[in-house]
Amino acid sequence: MPKGFLPMNELLRAAAADGYAVPSFCAWNAESMITVLSVAADLRAPVILMNGPGEYPLLGPSDMAAVAHTVIRRFSQPVALHLDHGNSVPLVCECLAAGYTSVMLDFSQRPYRENAAAQREVVQLAHPRGVTVEGELGTLGGIEDEIAASHIILTNPEDAKKFVEQTGVDALAIAIGTSHGAYKFKATPTLAMDIVEKTHKLIPNTYLVMHGSSSVPKELVDEVNKFGGKVPNAMGVPIHMIQQAIKLGVRKINIDTDGRLAFTAAIRKYFVEHPEGFDQRKYLGEARQAIFTWIQSKMKDFGTAGHANDYKGITLKDTMARYAK
Ligand code: 13P
Repeated sequence: MPKGFLPMNELLRAAAADGYAVPSFCAWNAESMITVLSVAADLRAPVILMNGPGEYPLLGPSDMAAVAHTVIRRFSQPVALHLDHGNSVPLVCECLAAGYTSVMLDFSQRPYRENAAAQREVVQLAHPRGVTVEGELGTLGGIEDEIAASHIILTNPEDAKKFVEQTGVDALAIAIGTSHGAYKFKATPTLAMDIVEKTHKLIPNTYLVMHGSSSVPKELVDEVNKFGGKVPNAMGVPIHMIQQAIKLGVRKINIDTDGRLAFTAAIRKYFVEHPEGFDQRKYLGEARQAIFTWIQSKMKDFGTAGHANDYKGITLKDTMARYAK
């Protein structure tokens, strides 16, 4: 069984071979990482830990990677450490030096040529180290920390093909109508599944990534609001749509908002029920349990549970050799 972080490519390669997807959870401290990894260990599932510019004001890339590399030692299921929405080439370099096994440069809001040229540069920096590269083409809406786009520009499958050929990225985030955050839709959700299908047909060996994949479950939103929160009219991507996207070729599912909601609901409830409480060991414990339960359901929904043995201990060194061919 693998020890330490694997190149993300290897997790997605196995997922593609067997038609499931690997969830990528935002995890930015030891507790959140251990919680994700414990669920993955229980369910014998591969998983991706991600963090990026939104989290770095709390803990910078090298400290974050140091925590992650310490925490991973006691787990043996396949896991990748991914830079989510990297916003500059120097940041990507910092993450490569720190020991991330996958990096994303998000220049999707820049002109195509600039995005492609920078991605190519990142590929040239990452592949000799065996590190996976994710690019993005098209624009997701919504707001997630540093990333804000007021409107969605759906990915053109032909452009996606050209982009992959020009850059050599391993994985590609495509815009199909999702957005970051808790307010994804105002009415019945619709997603451009035809774009997933066409893009997958055109570039079958590139791992398609679905960002903005929180389902924003009504129970969680109701719980937050019941205990004093104000999250009105929140709406996410129904699970059946994510499952359809997986059937059509999506291999990595990015989730952050649902974890925030689960965490916040548990803490709000704790404070309302224990107004005298001020011990973070207690309320963080409640929050951790809430996250645990929520991650379990995602692992089952995406077909990831039970796939920990799909890997043969492929390391960064092995992928270095593969890219050099
Ligand atoms: P959500 O806001 O839907 O959780 O999406 C997170 C994401 O895509 C991070 O890259």
